[in-house]
Amino acid sequence: MRSWWRDAVFYEVYVRSFADSNGDGIGDLPGITSRLDYLKRLGVDGLWLTPFYPSPQKDHGYDVADYVDVNPEYGTLADFNELLANAHQAGIKVIVDLVPNHTSDQHRWFLAALDSATDPHRAWYHFAAGKPDDAPPNNWQSAFGGAAWSRDQSTEQWYLHLFAPEQPDLNWWQPDVPAEFERIVEFWLARGADGFRIDVASALFKRKDLADRPLVHDPGTGIMKPDPHFAIVDQPEVHDVYRRWRQIANQHEPERVLVGEIFDPLRQARYIRPDQLHMAFALMRVKWDAVAWRRAIVAAQRALAGADSGPSWTLSNHDVVRQVTRFGGGALGAERARAAILLLLGLPGQAFLYQGEELGLPEAEVPPAARQDPWYFHTQGREAGRDGCRVPLPWRATGVNAGFSEADPWLPMPAGWSRFAADRQSAVPGSMLAHYRRVLAERRRLGRWLPPSISWLKGPAGTLAFSRGRLAVACNFLSRPASLELGGRLVLSSREGTRLEGRRLTLPANSAAWLDALPAG
Ligand code: NOJ
Repeated sequence: MRSWWRDAVFYEVYVRSFADSNGDGIGDLPGITSRLDYLKRLGVDGLWLTPFYPSPQKDHGYDVADYVDVNPEYGTLADFNELLANAHQAGIKVIVDLVPNHTSDQHRWFLAALDSATDPHRAWYHFAAGKPDDAPPNNWQSAFGGAAWSRDQSTEQWYLHLFAPEQPDLNWWQPDVPAEFERIVEFWLARGADGFRIDVASALFKRKDLADRPLVHDPGTGIMKPDPHFAIVDQPEVHDVYRRWRQIANQHEPERVLVGEIFDPLRQARYIRPDQLHMAFALMRVKWDAVAWRRAIVAAQRALAGADSGPSWTLSNHDVVRQVTRFGGGALGAERARAAILLLLGLPGQAFLYQGEELGLPEAEVPPAARQDPWYFHTQGREAGRDGCRVPLPWRATGVNAGFSEADPWLPMPAGWSRFAADRQSAVPGSMLAHYRRVLAERRRLGRWLPPSISWLKGPAGTLAFSRGRLAVACNFLSRPASLELGGRLVLSSREGTRLEGRRLTLPANSAAWLDALPAG
């Protein structure tokens, strides 16, 4: 039997911003349960829930203080069970986010490690002496800016954090760490979770010698800088961890899945194997350009040609600028986003949607005083940060805060957010929400018949077209109409004005269409 996850469409729920059931301005697990009918109607197969564990929220849940419980802000373990049972009832799978690279600095393991230099938990993290000139142990940088080391004031040693100082990295060379995570994996699988999205999946093991990155000449700035290609993570031992997790996952019915947060297609192939991870993301953050899209699709597919599964396509997530804005913003950005989802969901493989893209949300303006993202703060505002794609969902066109919450939401709703409201769009046939529902329904209808590979078709410059069995997908990236020779019945288009005359398909500017080579019925 074909595995449920192959070709599945997942939907990322950013829990804090999805739906608020108790009126505190923060999304929660019962809120998700209350919106399962919306997700069912949208037509997704599975949900990825961002971390909902107890956490001081220094990186909004990616700083975990307890891996086997629920943050009271989000509910209880009983609420998780309820969500899972209802989702399964609705035929929707649920995968949870696992953050094995680092904990919160408030996790009891780290508190014990800080408490005494002789506590066994000290070895669970990377503590090291600084260099003689009072500098950190090496020149590694945090992804959020600044040194990747902070001082433990009581011992004068330093500890490693590839992200915020409140997210100390675990030492995966210490055998108690993998053993502990096997228990955590089993805990959620035994509860019925359908798998995991694994945060920074390739980073767990750091190079043992903690060597400096060599300095290389940066042609952009003319100065010397640490070589970003010098591998400090991605050590071979990480594969044994995933082999073990896969064995644990395989002991459960129905099939459970492991999705790695690994973006580089060339690295993914080493992880997506029958005895390791099932999937990794192909994030299409390319500009609106036919050549760039084709290149990115080919690179992702080629890298995984011999792997156990093809790419898991995605246009955005809670870490990147929303696609409507990336594609030019306003009506233009929305037109392109409508076309892009046709292109993306026409491809073989899994897909991951990010909450709010089905409403056509743009990147929101978040006033500096309301910012929350540590990336923004650690770079003193040089990086805009990720708050703009995390603003809560507008559910209702009327009422305060677009129906998200009676209380002030944790990130303010921008003026006019209610024009994107789900209830308003639900009633409008041409809305972005209606478009997403139709695309997903059509994919489901055709899906069973479609082969796992595509053939590129000829078309004028600035267009892309491919066929996949009976389905043909065409996209016009130009700002003027374009015509292609394509057979079939026009089943979906992203814009009004798409015409099929005989075998001549005319696509308006910035639009895409699907053709079905078989007659209706
Ligand atoms: C990737 C997550 O998606 C991001 O939100 C987080 O800040 C980092 N990993 C660190 O956990």
